[in-house]
Amino acid sequence: MSAVRVHNFAISLDGFATGAGQAPDAPFGHAGERLHEWMFATRFWHEMGGGQGGSGGADNAFAAMHGPGIGAEIMGAGKFGPPGWQDDPDYKGAWGANPPFHTPVFVLTHRPRPSIEMAGGTTFHFLDLPPAEALKRAREAAGGQDVRLGGGPSVIRDFLAEGLVDHMHVVQVPMVLGRGVRLWDGLESLEEAYHIEAVSTPSGVTHLTFTAKTR
Ligand SMILES: NC(=O)c1ccc[n+]([C@@H]2O[C@H](COP(=O)([O-])OP(=O)(O)OC[C@H]3O[C@@H](n4cnc5c(N)ncnc54)[C@H](OP(=O)(O)O)[C@@H]3O)[C@@H](O)[C@H]2O)c1
Repeated sequence: MSAVRVHNFAISLDGFATGAGQAPDAPFGHAGERLHEWMFATRFWHEMGGGQGGSGGADNAFAAMHGPGIGAEIMGAGKFGPPGWQDDPDYKGAWGANPPFHTPVFVLTHRPRPSIEMAGGTTFHFLDLPPAEALKRAREAAGGQDVRLGGGPSVIRDFLAEGLVDHMHVVQVPMVLGRGVRLWDGLESLEEAYHIEAVSTPSGVTHLTFTAKTR
């Protein structure tokens, strides 16, 4: 069966994956861009933006695993847009006309709307379904490939709680955010279900990989 994978999911030392005060001009709230500076420096990120350059070391090797083998993404309403986006019938996500997904994307929301086809192969579908049922829909759309769970922390936490995540790459960034949305709340003893490896890189981050013992 196709795997459910999380990639490049950045958290602070105190476990926050986003800061407080998310807004259109501050998608990570008071965290700003600090959770992802390690990734912005990589060749993977430069090439995603259509450019060249960037580092080709260990951070890049991890970051570049984001795309291969992925046939669909699931994300939460909080990643799709800032608080209140559901009130704008014309809102089409935070990524412009050609979003970087290039697959079907299933947005979990209690206020679903008709699907939106974007340039470059991304179609946003909106689902008000429990995690396991949403995953069934995403797997069908992924055509045998894996499903990426794109965040944010609330959605990843819900899928982890139900044992639906096969592989997770978390990047611990050496900063203390103090406020925001935590990844780990309610997941006591999660480590027992996974083989976990950790690699620290010269940029100062620690890459943690969780591979389900059942895989
Ligand atoms: N650190 C990282 O690497 C990373 C990665 C991605 C995103 N982020 C950040 O994470 C933040 C968003 O995370 P978040 O935890 O606030 O929100 P989220 O996980 O993106 O979305 C949670 C929301 O999705 C909807 N939802 C979730 N499960 C649902 C279900 N089963 N059925 C229907 N609706 C469902 C609900 O919204 P409604 O009730 O409003 O419909 C819920 O409040 C953003 O700041 C984003 O920038 C960080």
